[in-house]
Amino acid sequence: MRKPVMAGNWKLYKTAAETSAFFEKFMPAIADRKRAEIVICPPFVNIPAAVAASSASSVEVGGQDLFWLQEGAYTGEVSGNMLAAIGARWVIIGHSERRQYFHETDETVLKKTQAALASGLNPIVCVGERLEEREAGATESVLRTQFTGGIGALTPEQFAKIVIAYEPVWAIGTGKTATPEMAADAHRVLRAEVAQRYGQAAADACRILYGGSVKPDNVKGLMAQEEIDGALVGGASLDPASFAAIVNF
Ligand code: 13P
Repeated sequence: MRKPVMAGNWKLYKTAAETSAFFEKFMPAIADRKRAEIVICPPFVNIPAAVAASSASSVEVGGQDLFWLQEGAYTGEVSGNMLAAIGARWVIIGHSERRQYFHETDETVLKKTQAALASGLNPIVCVGERLEEREAGATESVLRTQFTGGIGALTPEQFAKIVIAYEPVWAIGTGKTATPEMAADAHRVLRAEVAQRYGQAAADACRILYGGSVKPDNVKGLMAQEEIDGALVGGASLDPASFAAIVNF
C-alpha cells in the first residue's frame, strides 16, 4: 500500500503572520490524521514560521524550489542544505510555473532533484502537459519526454526517494480539474515509464500525486482511483478549513 501524500503549494501567498494564523486553525482540524502524509510548502521566508507552528505534529514543511548547487555566487538562490537547516523536509521541483516563467527544463529538474536528495530532502517532482499538447494528442509523449529527460536519469536508489506530481497545466488555477479517469490514465503512463526504467517493484512503490484545481468537493473522486496517491494543492491549500477537508478526504 502506498501512503498518500497531501501537499499544499502556497506559491506566492501569505506573510509569516498569515502562516502562523493558518496553522492555528489547521492543526486542530487535522488532529491525529495518520492516513496521509501532510506537507505544506510556503514561500522560503515563511518556512521557519511553518516549522515552528507544526513542530509538535506529523505535518511537514517543504520549499517550492531550490538551486542545484549548495553555495556560491548565485544571487537570489537558495540551496537544499539551507532548506534542510531551517527544518524543511520536502521540496517541490519543476513546477509548471517554474518551467513557464523561469525557463526550467527537464535537465535543470534533474540537477535540482539530485541536489535535493543530496541534502536529504524529499523531492516532489512535477510533470504535466499544456492544453495545446493535450489537444494535439501529445499528452503521453510529453509525459514520456519529461520523464526520460529528467527523473529517468536518476539512479534506482535516488528514484526510490522521490514523489512524482502529475499536474496538467490546463487544470492549474483554472477550476478545470482533470476527471479522475483522465488523471489515472496519465498516472498509468508515468508508472509504465517507471516500470520500464526501474522495474515493476519500483513502479508499484512510486507515489504519483495529482495536482490541478483539487478542491474539497472533488478530492474524494480523485483519491478513489487506485493510481492516484495524493494531491498537490494550490489555491485550496491556502484556507485552513478547505485544506483540512482535502486532507481528511
Ligand atoms: P491549483 O490547485 O490552484 O489549481 O494549483 C495546483 C498547483 O499548481 C499545485 O502545485
